[in-house]
Amino acid sequence: MSTSPVSSDHTLDRVFIFDTTLRDGEQSPGASMNTAEKLEIARQLVRLGVDVIEAGFPISSPGDFESVRRIAAEVGDAVTVCALSRAIPGDIERAAEALKGAARPRIHTGIGASDSHLNDKLHISRDVAIERGVAAVKLARSFVEDVEFYAEDAARADRDFLCRMIEAVIAAGATVVNIPDTTGYSYPEVFGDLIRTLGERVRGIEDVTISIHCHNDLGMATANALAGVKAGARQVECTINGLGERAGNTAMEEVVMALKMRPDIFGADTRINTKEFVRASRLVSSITGILVQPNKAIVGANAFAHSSGIHQDGVLKERSTYEIIDPADVGAGGSSIVLTARSGRAALRHRLAELGYAMEDDDFEGIHQAFLDLADKKKEVYDEDLEALVGEAERMVGEVYHLEQVHVSCGDPGIPTATVELIRQDGQSLIDSSHGNGPVDAVYHAINRIVGVSNDLTEFSVQSVTRGIDAVGEVTIRIKSEDGRTFTGRGAHPDIIVSSAKAYVNALNRLLVAAEAPSLADESFEEI
Ligand code: KIV
Ligand code: ZN
Repeated sequence: MSTSPVSSDHTLDRVFIFDTTLRDGEQSPGASMNTAEKLEIARQLVRLGVDVIEAGFPISSPGDFESVRRIAAEVGDAVTVCALSRAIPGDIERAAEALKGAARPRIHTGIGASDSHLNDKLHISRDVAIERGVAAVKLARSFVEDVEFYAEDAARADRDFLCRMIEAVIAAGATVVNIPDTTGYSYPEVFGDLIRTLGERVRGIEDVTISIHCHNDLGMATANALAGVKAGARQVECTINGLGERAGNTAMEEVVMALKMRPDIFGADTRINTKEFVRASRLVSSITGILVQPNKAIVGANAFAHSSGIHQDGVLKERSTYEIIDPADVGAGGSSIVLTARSGRAALRHRLAELGYAMEDDDFEGIHQAFLDLADKKKEVYDEDLEALVGEAERMVGEVYHLEQVHVSCGDPGIPTATVELIRQDGQSLIDSSHGNGPVDAVYHAINRIVGVSNDLTEFSVQSVTRGIDAVGEVTIRIKSEDGRTFTGRGAHPDIIVSSAKAYVNALNRLLVAAEAPSLADESFEEI
């Protein structure tokens, strides 16, 4: 089955994208932005190729007024700039004032349509609501050619009344009619049916654009918006990352990609440059401080990450087995294979090869075992972890003693005590215990009791080589033998006591091997 998008197909109907990140999106608690930040987002919206930017609600504050004015001046005729107003003359005049410098201005005005809004908020009758809506559209038309009317809470309004209201505002000069599901109450079948009904019953609707504006209170904003498109709406109001009042608005990236991926269902497409989605998402998130959930469709950090071994195997053989969207199409770089305890050999081998480690089967088995041990302790195994594991495996070559286990008990009060088991080259298990000034000192004394080679510890350092609280710590030590030669040892493990023990055994092995092969002293360490 092909999953390639067909956005260049000119038989598809055009759906206009009305971005309201700077207006409805900014209504998200904590998302307020200053004018400079709004301008930065507006520039990115132009790069995305949106059709309309709703830049603000000018009557609400001097800052909003200024943002609309500056955005209108900056974007020129690249995009329509829209300003929100209530069906109140002062609001409309202020919106018109802010849009004065716009090459393509639109005033968005409207009034409540549901009985809930008319009775409990506005305290007006249905007829008065229509009168005010009509007057607002006429006033807005006296300033600009392009006037959008919103029937707030349309999804909960009486249908006969809504048809009457929409017909009246079209007759008054509205060019776009917005049918919002203000409270996110609707359901795809019902919302689609509402849009279809308006299309069939409202006189003059064929001459205007039907817009939809869906909120996400029941997690159905995208589904409802798509149902609206299927029923004939040709403008979708949406925001980057689905930002918006309460549970948010329709996520632009979701609607646009659904249309792009399923022309067979919707027969419609947009002119959005989808490769700009991830950049837009990151910009909005960093400016508002509102993080994107990792599993968010299209732009989430995990949207193209594969963690299970079965999926990784499939994706490595053929990406489309588990990915319907090419990550490059939304600017996400590539698919990522996340190495966890559930990853299989194929994924580990693939990642090692990408890091430049081509391995024989025997070596790979050793690394795979060490990887599984580490993955059981950590949530995610990063590239640096793998490099540490490979380094560790390389260090094990030529071992005289192998650290089998180490156990410490310490605290305050308490005497740091360590028990160590080493396996000698001939397979013999040797166990001893000792105490010391601290846990590492106790471990080193216990190892000394087994190995019995006198030396001085001249250097000890520990470094975190991976990220997070469960990071791998790498210990590097230097010891000096009785004849004055220096040997370096390294050990890596999430437990730094174990790393320390490994590093010490590694240095002792070098010292012991050097007794027979002097070139293994530190001068030639790099060649090993
Ligand atoms: O949700 C809504 O109804 C709105 C209108 C102002 C369009 O945001
Ligand atoms: Zn809204």
